[in-house]
Amino acid sequence: MKFLVSGGRRLQGKVRISGAKNAALVLIAASVMAADDVVLDNVPRIADVDTQLQIVASLGGRFVWEGENTVRISWPEGIETTTTPFQLAKKLRASNLFLGALLARTGKAEIPLPGGCNIGSRPMDLHLKGLQALGFEVKLEHGFIKAWAKKPTGNRVYLDFPSVGATENIMMAAAGIPEVTVIENAAKEPEIVNLASFLTALGVKVRGVGTDIIRIEGVKERGGARCGVIPDRIEAGTYMIAAGITGGEVTLENVIITHLHPVIAKLEEAGLKVDVGEDTLTVTPSGELKATDIKTLPYPGFPTDLQSPMMALLSVAKGTSTIVENVFENRFQVADELKRMGAQIKVKGQTAIVEGVEKLYGAQVKATDLRAGAALIIAALAAEGETEICQGELIARGYEKIEEKLSGLGAKVRVV
Ligand code: EPZ
Repeated sequence: MKFLVSGGRRLQGKVRISGAKNAALVLIAASVMAADDVVLDNVPRIADVDTQLQIVASLGGRFVWEGENTVRISWPEGIETTTTPFQLAKKLRASNLFLGALLARTGKAEIPLPGGCNIGSRPMDLHLKGLQALGFEVKLEHGFIKAWAKKPTGNRVYLDFPSVGATENIMMAAAGIPEVTVIENAAKEPEIVNLASFLTALGVKVRGVGTDIIRIEGVKERGGARCGVIPDRIEAGTYMIAAGITGGEVTLENVIITHLHPVIAKLEEAGLKVDVGEDTLTVTPSGELKATDIKTLPYPGFPTDLQSPMMALLSVAKGTSTIVENVFENRFQVADELKRMGAQIKVKGQTAIVEGVEKLYGAQVKATDLRAGAALIIAALAAEGETEICQGELIARGYEKIEEKLSGLGAKVRVV
């Protein structure tokens, strides 16, 4: 799949932000823990969600879409197997979130070791250490992680790094243990808060989510739940940056402003004007784009998922910007592709130095991961001429109706 973008057009108008990919993926996995029906609202229709739902079906679950963005998941025959299929699980790292959910429901789980993707090795050590602390046995065998309940007990778990996935897996495993578990140095991302609201609806006691100390008191029996997926703060940031690089005026609808504070602050520093409403915000240009220094950090720091899109914006900002990537060890791949469009970027270890240039030029480039792909679309929107982005399927994985939404804002984008 290729994205063909003709640059040089200002984005104008309104765009509605979809449900958060990274919240939907964990809620779909968590549905395994519910004995009765689970209904999820505001679920984005993207490839990663389809794959996660196919894994639910492979475990014995049934899912039916009840409207454009509402899905009902049920388990008429209970859990038929506790092994996630390699062919599906290898497509996305978030398949590792079935680990904690299956342990809570059945006391057993077998998932393929998620392959590192090209933004880093992405080990599972923190997940496994946490599960072992909760009394689960864990074994690595033939590329699979096998885990089973030895003597599940509540415990204090300290995370060396506030890993989003490790926090989520440990929360779900603890949610099935009728004792107290405390996770210290837990991740604080809004997607974790969304998971906590789901677990609470299942009758689990969760306290402190959104801070670095989460207290969970699990329950053995859990019914069903209905839960809404929060708006996607990364999709929102992507459209804000796309508006900014084209000097356009764009209003985003269906956002949660507090989730975007780090992004709003940085974009204002880069010279954009951001007016916030109740659940909307409007980006307008205010003079030229200015060089800005970015450090990615766990939430509420600047999100690593917007680092590549920011690099595209800063490629045409006046002056020299420094970007430090503190979360993943190899997330500057997009720099080489941006340089093919005329960007001037020097990468040294975890730091990228971006010298702003007058303008970028259309070229043939390759999306190396989802967010790098988004960055290339952003660069292409401002570049002179046509840009062809191959491996575009990586972009469609995480951005609902991106071609439609950009065209609706006046961009000239085609997918072939
Ligand atoms: C989640 O991945 C997101 N994915 C990622 O979004 C996001 O970039 C990341 O959190 C950080 O915010 C989903 O939620 C599905 P981590 P996750 O565990 O949970 C290291 C996107 O584009 N680490 O917080 O895998 C790890 O190697 C994706 O939407 C360990 O060392 O991220 C990484 O360097 C990309 N050991 C750092 O922590 C572990 O056991 C952050 O990883 C686990 C992680």
